[in-house]
Amino acid sequence: MTNLTQHPQSISLKEREVINGHRAAVVWFTGLSGSGKSTLAMALQEALFKTGCQVTVLDGDNVRQGLNAGLGFSDEDRDENLRRVAEVSKLFVQAGFLVLTSFISPLQQERDRTRSIIDPQPFFEIYVEVDLKIAEARDPKGLYQKARSGEIKNFTGLDSPYEVPGHPDLVISNSAQSVEVGVDQLLEFLKHKGII
Ligand code: ADX
Repeated sequence: MTNLTQHPQSISLKEREVINGHRAAVVWFTGLSGSGKSTLAMALQEALFKTGCQVTVLDGDNVRQGLNAGLGFSDEDRDENLRRVAEVSKLFVQAGFLVLTSFISPLQQERDRTRSIIDPQPFFEIYVEVDLKIAEARDPKGLYQKARSGEIKNFTGLDSPYEVPGHPDLVISNSAQSVEVGVDQLLEFLKHKGII
């Protein structure tokens, strides 16, 4: 990082937030594959968009087919995947967006690092909690089955770790409840935090 200068933005985040009518923030969904992170993020995005929010979703499966194509599921590659996503989220936040992210993000240290990258802007760690058995029974992409048969290695929850958040900002208990209930909880949470 030698010989580089920071150019201050010519429009402040405050000015953008005034125009948008809401705060910029990162709503970071973490949880097992099949827990419902992406479904919740997309449904929340729709609800926020309807009320005129600047909102976007960054989703693991999508980002891994573009910006992060070439990264796999070793600890190192997940770490780099999440570091880049944190930096991209920061760029969106600086542009005034509500950024909803859907990444397994299995390790607490990676989630904590993301919080510090986004700091001083708001970062909320949302734990989408589901029983492994239920995620495996849902298996929307057939990946648990492939992992059980040995076709996929380092699968989160089976032969790769998932660290349950120690101090999440919000827990969505997603083993049985509907998407609508989860979205309502999230909207209430964002109102309570003064984001929307
Ligand atoms: S993370 O661990 O680096 O945060 P990310 O959320 O980007 O993971 O990608 C997870 C998605 O990749 C899963 O939803 C699933 O569709 C797919 N996937 C493919 N292989 C694996 C694996 N070994 N472990 C977990 N997810 C995998």
